[in-house]
Amino acid sequence: MNIIELKGINKFFGSAGSRVHVLKDVDFSVRRGDFVAIIGQSGSGKSTLMNIIGCLDTPTSGSYRINGVEVGNMDKDSLAELRCKTFGFIFQRYNLLANLRARDNAALPAVYSGLDSESQAKRASELLESLDLGDKLNNRPNELSGGQQQRVSIARALMNGGEIILADEPTGASDSKSGENVMGIIKSLHRRGHTVVLVTHDSRIASQAGRIIEIKDGRIVSDSRRSSEFYELEDRVENAKRGRFDALKYGLLESLSMSVHAILSNKMRSLLTMLGIIIGIASVVSVVALGNASQAKIMRQISSMGTNTIDIMPGRGFGDMRSGKVKTLKVGDSDYLGRQSFIDNSTPNVTASGTLVYENRSLNADLSGVGAQFFDVKGKKIAKGRIFSKDEVANLESVVVIDDNTRREVFEKEPNPVGKIILFNRKPLKIIGVTQKESNPGPMSDSMNLWIPYTTAMYKINGSSDINSITVKVSDSVNSQVAEESIENILTVLHGKKDFFMINSDSIKQTITSTTGTMRLLIACIAVISLIVGWIGVMNIMLVSVTERTREIGIRMAIGAKQADILQQFLIEAVLICVLGGAMGVALSMLVGFGFNTFSTRFGMDFSTASIALALACSSAIGIIFGYMPAKNASNLNPIDALASE
Ligand SMILES: Nc1ncnc2c1ncn2[C@@H]1O[C@H](COP(=O)(O)OP(=O)(O)OP(=O)(O)O)[C@@H](O)[C@H]1O
Ligand SMILES: [Mg+2]
Repeated sequence: MNIIELKGINKFFGSAGSRVHVLKDVDFSVRRGDFVAIIGQSGSGKSTLMNIIGCLDTPTSGSYRINGVEVGNMDKDSLAELRCKTFGFIFQRYNLLANLRARDNAALPAVYSGLDSESQAKRASELLESLDLGDKLNNRPNELSGGQQQRVSIARALMNGGEIILADEPTGASDSKSGENVMGIIKSLHRRGHTVVLVTHDSRIASQAGRIIEIKDGRIVSDSRRSSEFYELEDRVENAKRGRFDALKYGLLESLSMSVHAILSNKMRSLLTMLGIIIGIASVVSVVALGNASQAKIMRQISSMGTNTIDIMPGRGFGDMRSGKVKTLKVGDSDYLGRQSFIDNSTPNVTASGTLVYENRSLNADLSGVGAQFFDVKGKKIAKGRIFSKDEVANLESVVVIDDNTRREVFEKEPNPVGKIILFNRKPLKIIGVTQKESNPGPMSDSMNLWIPYTTAMYKINGSSDINSITVKVSDSVNSQVAEESIENILTVLHGKKDFFMINSDSIKQTITSTTGTMRLLIACIAVISLIVGWIGVMNIMLVSVTERTREIGIRMAIGAKQADILQQFLIEAVLICVLGGAMGVALSMLVGFGFNTFSTRFGMDFSTASIALALACSSAIGIIFGYMPAKNASNLNPIDALASE
């Protein structure tokens, strides 16, 4: 009963010009339960042969059967499965993973065969205990002696059963005593039914095997049998059987824990990688939150301007130096406009500056003369008292409505100044109302405002019939653009020329909205660029990490990892870094937002769950995209090349 059958195996290395013929027509078979030593000088092709037997490498020509099945016809996954479940490798240089503890190193093949973690740990501990390593379960390879490391690697070879044990110079790196120890273990494995193929250059070691095959320059030169002892395999490992969904779930969990392990064992590098994403995500989320808050604030301020109002000013436009001196607008214009069907109401505005005196207090102030409708048009709410009536406007009454700033400046602690008399330019004015404090302070939020009937301002304070501007409220059903044109036509006809300009609250609103929108888009673009830089950083680090860990990948493949396992592991690692970075970025931006919201009145941040969710989703999606290339590179590595890398 042959477990291994090789026929006409040839192996060439290199291409056309520098082709070397390393194995030449190698023919031999190994019986189940045999103990075979392959002996030969350095460079004779022993390791090459061993790698072919172990399905780490493929022959250039020839046939290789395991248990009667042709290996040449198998795909990569089936080969991985063979390496995982049938073979147990013992390498000259142990090939343990440096950042795993002894027990996890021994258990690694079971990860790829799908054993549950409890059984893994149990079996790994038992194997290590049987190899006298019971007290070293939690040591990492660099905390173990060479002989101990070799025993860990033997435990690993037996983890999934190790029906065929392949040992390439297993005693090569140890002194003679631990070399004997290792040989003792290998012989006992043979007696317990494992088929053993051992490679050595040492005839004393080869002589302990049942059969010795000598190889010279890639050709078998002798094949002798010393003893015929074949044993039945005692330790048959039942392979875990799982449903497809379970297997997937379990595989993902294993990859996740391996990725966490890899990230934690390289804390500094992982953190630096994440930094780009942390900053990127934090800035994107913050910019969006800042933009949301400021937009909302601007919108509230705009709505306090009053809706659908048009201010008409004398002069040619903003910045017209003469505007203050031009007195072309008349009360009659306002009255005429007020009678138009498309205008709800119209009020002239008159300003007056002077000194305001109350008791022994005196300060400079500006006064606005307005119509009774003004408060309605501008959306001003009264906190105490009342606003003036149309009659009071018509009768030039000396009444004044003040705002909260004025109340504070002039009356300080007196909460209700309604009924008090103040003097403005020595003219007495009776306070009849106080407006509500501005809930959304704008840029001019600490200026004082006093409103009196415009008639009073014109005739009692200024002593002239000039007005400074007209505010009209356009009917809700009328388009403010159309209204603006109509007003322009009417006034141009009345005045004989266009000696005024208009400010339309609606168009200001539109302009502000679109400018803040553009600004936000611009800043968001910059933030996204920084995010992309962060992601490229991830890709870069993952590529470096693949190169740096090529050997680890080789070891994992040699003990049974499929391409998909490697792909999955590196991909999950990339995604994990991105998601962790993203989460930290969101947390950072929340922290900044908290600071802003508590310590600054000027700025606020308004986080929306949608933007945070989007940031995290993008982060993981990009983790997959940018992690895929390096992960694919890793999984495409040839096991034997990966293993040979330093
Ligand atoms: N990847 C490769 N590319 C080119 N030549 C190779 C490659 N691997 C091995 N060889 C060559 O094949 C020959 C056999 O190498 P192999 O490693 O099988 O020898 P060995 O018998 O195991 O030697 P040692 O006892 O020193 O380990 C050597 O001449 C080596 O230079
Ligand atoms: Mg070798």
